Amino acid sequence: MTQEDMTSADESTSAQPVDDATDSSPDPSGEPLVDQSISVDGREEQAATGTSETIIRAKDVNVYYDDIQALDDVSMEIPEKQVTAMIGPSGCGKSTFLRCINRMNDLIAAAGVEGELYFQGKNVYDSDVDQIVLRRQIGMVFQHPNPFPKSIYDNVAYGLRVQNIDENLDEKVETALKRAALWDEVKDQLDKSALDLSGGQQQRLCIARAIAVDPTVILMDEPASALDPIATSKIEDLIEELVEEYTVIIVTHNMQQAARISDKTAVFLTGGELVEFGDTQTIFENPENQRVEDYITGKFG
Ligand SMILES: Nc1ncnc2c1ncn2[C@@H]1O[C@H](COP(=O)(O)OP(=O)(O)OP(=O)(O)O)[C@@H](O)[C@H]1O
Ligand SMILES: [Mg+2]
Repeated sequence: MTQEDMTSADESTSAQPVDDATDSSPDPSGEPLVDQSISVDGREEQAATGTSETIIRAKDVNVYYDDIQALDDVSMEIPEKQVTAMIGPSGCGKSTFLRCINRMNDLIAAAGVEGELYFQGKNVYDSDVDQIVLRRQIGMVFQHPNPFPKSIYDNVAYGLRVQNIDENLDEKVETALKRAALWDEVKDQLDKSALDLSGGQQQRLCIARAIAVDPTVILMDEPASALDPIATSKIEDLIEELVEEYTVIIVTHNMQQAARISDKTAVFLTGGELVEFGDTQTIFENPENQRVEDYITGKFG
């Protein structure tokens, strides 16, 4: 299936657009690896309480693309209503793992997934799981903003209309745009094409579109790496607000970003191995694994 087929197939059946699903290119932002003086200010309190329930549990997950192994026996427990960051060098399987969570890899013909992946205690790979419903509960935002060529309003209303929800549509669109911190900028131009917005606004629109269908988890694959520092900072602020209500899992190449906004960090290294997973502060200040320390301090990447 080509990328185009995947996008249109998905647009017809689900609230979630498919984009970048096969993109394994290096991070175009060229974010430098950084030294160990990464600040984890502000995240300690929540991480320290550590009371969150597990919402997603991966057990021995392996993914192959034909005969290439992209994930190697990955197990982890992701807490509810926290930000979990996935970091690691290009090609180590971060996007692949993210796509396992809402079964987006099923859309890639070459991909084969083994192992168990539980969302709220239910294995998402069980045969009775409806993938469309799953992707509504576990939304996704991609590296490159991908609004539909429709109005701002129609983009946000899209997933609701697919579900035949037309009651209080105006109110629901407004709420989603407010939650995505975009309402004030677009409230007088809801009929304008989404494609006329700036890149940062388009990305917040995509977040509004994802949250309009009231998901439980939001997956974000490098959501700010194509944006300038101001737009990036808005997305980071937004993530910190979203996590009051949603579980956020974010892939980033930006170490400072992971340290700033996440509670937990998963470090993947070459070969699709999850090398360390834990509280963000521990991972950045006192990792157990030497390879993790070397990666974080920029000795390799
Ligand atoms: N659609 C695909 N078909 C074949 N191989 C793929 C596909 N997508 C990813 N891969 C391979 O799987 C491995 C993991 O890729 P993945 O995109 O998950 O890495 P990543 O950590 O997200 O990298 P990046 O930081 O560059 O986005 C790589 O070897 C990649 O080439
Ligand atoms: Mg990726």
